[in-house]
Amino acid sequence: MWGHLGNGVFYHDENLSLLMQVKNRKVATSMAPSAVRGLFMQKGKRNETVLMQATHKVHFDLTYRLDFPEMNALYRRAVANQWDGDRDLDWSTAVDPMNPEIPIIGEDFLPLDGLAEYGVKLNAREAAQANYNVVCWMLSQFMHGEQGALYASAQVTESVQWMDGKFYGATQVMDEGRHLEVFLRYLDTKLQKSYQINDNLFVIIDDLMTDSRWDIKFLGMQIMIEGLALGAFSTLHNTTREPLLRKLLQYVIQDEARHVHYGVLALREHFSKGITGAERREREDWAFEVALLMRNRFMAHEVYEEMFEGQMTRRQWNRFILASPAMQRFRQQMFKRLIPNLNYIGLLSPRMRKHYEDAGLWQFAAGKNASELSEADLLADLT
Ligand SMILES: [Fe+2]
Ligand SMILES: [Fe+2]
Repeated sequence: MWGHLGNGVFYHDENLSLLMQVKNRKVATSMAPSAVRGLFMQKGKRNETVLMQATHKVHFDLTYRLDFPEMNALYRRAVANQWDGDRDLDWSTAVDPMNPEIPIIGEDFLPLDGLAEYGVKLNAREAAQANYNVVCWMLSQFMHGEQGALYASAQVTESVQWMDGKFYGATQVMDEGRHLEVFLRYLDTKLQKSYQINDNLFVIIDDLMTDSRWDIKFLGMQIMIEGLALGAFSTLHNTTREPLLRKLLQYVIQDEARHVHYGVLALREHFSKGITGAERREREDWAFEVALLMRNRFMAHEVYEEMFEGQMTRRQWNRFILASPAMQRFRQQMFKRLIPNLNYIGLLSPRMRKHYEDAGLWQFAAGKNASELSEADLLADLT
C-alpha cells in the first residue's frame, strides 16, 4: 500500500517495514537519514545526479612505513593481474537475450511455471521477456553497485592508516572503475536496456558514502556488499550460457576475491587493536542487521511493477522470488562467503552467536574466510 509523507513524497509500506526490521535502535538511527533519502524521497530514482556529503578523515601518512607484508603481497598480486576490459573480452560476440538456444538465465532462475499458482500464465515470448528483464535488472544493480564501490574504495584509500593499504586501495579503485566500465558496456551495447537503482541498494550506498567512520565504510563495502556481489555474480555466472557474460563475470569475480581478502586483513588488524568494547559491539550489531537486510531485500520489484503489477500482489511476487531455486542458491552462496569473514575479523562474539543461530546463519561460521581463498579457488568453485 502506498502512503504520502507530504511534499509529493510517496512511500510503499514495504519501505516502512524495512526500517521496522532493523531491531537495534542505534543501527536504525545511524541508517535513518539514508533511508529517508532513499526510500521516502527516492533520490536515486528521481534525480539524474545525487550529491552525497562525505565526512570522513583523510589519513595522510608521513612515516611511509611499509609494515603490512600480507597486504603488500596482495598489492603485488593485484598489479600483476590487471586485465583490460576492452582487449580481454570479445565484444564482437553477438548477444540475443531472447534466443532460447543460448539462455541468458536458466529456467530455475525464474521458475515462471510457478506463477500459475497466482493465476498468471505466460506464453513463450512473454517468458523470454521476463528473463530478459530480470537479467537487465540484475546487471543494472551490479552497475550501480560498482559505481558505489568505486567511490567507497577511493574513500577508504584516503582513510586507511597503512601505506601498504593505500597501495592496495589504488589497485581496487582501478578494478572498480573497470567493473563499472564492463557492466555499463554490456548493458549498453548487448542488452540495450537498463533499470534505475533499487531503493534498498541506494540506501546502503548512501549510508556508506556519508558515514564518517572509515571502518564502517570498509566493513559495509569490503565485507558486506562485496560478499553480496560475489554471491550474485557467481549465481548469475552459473546460470547463464551466454559466453561473453560468463567471461566478464569470471574476470570480475577474480578481482572481487582480492577485495574481500583486503577487507578481512585490514579489519582483523583494526578490530583487534584499534577499537573499544563499545565500538566493537556497535559494529557487531551493525553487521548483523545489514546481513539480515541483504537477505530479503533484492527482489526485482522494478520488474514486478513493469510486468506483473495488477495481475498478482507484491506479496505474492515476493513469495515467488524467494522460492526460486537460484535465489536460494544465491543466499546460500552469499552467507557461505560472508559469515566466515565476519568470524575472522572478530565480529561473531559469543554475545552475537544466538542472534546468528536464530537467523539460521551460524552453520556457515566455520567455513573458509577470504584470506584462505585465492582467486583460483573462487574460479574453481564456479560451474
Ligand atoms: Fe567491483
Ligand atoms: Fe569490489
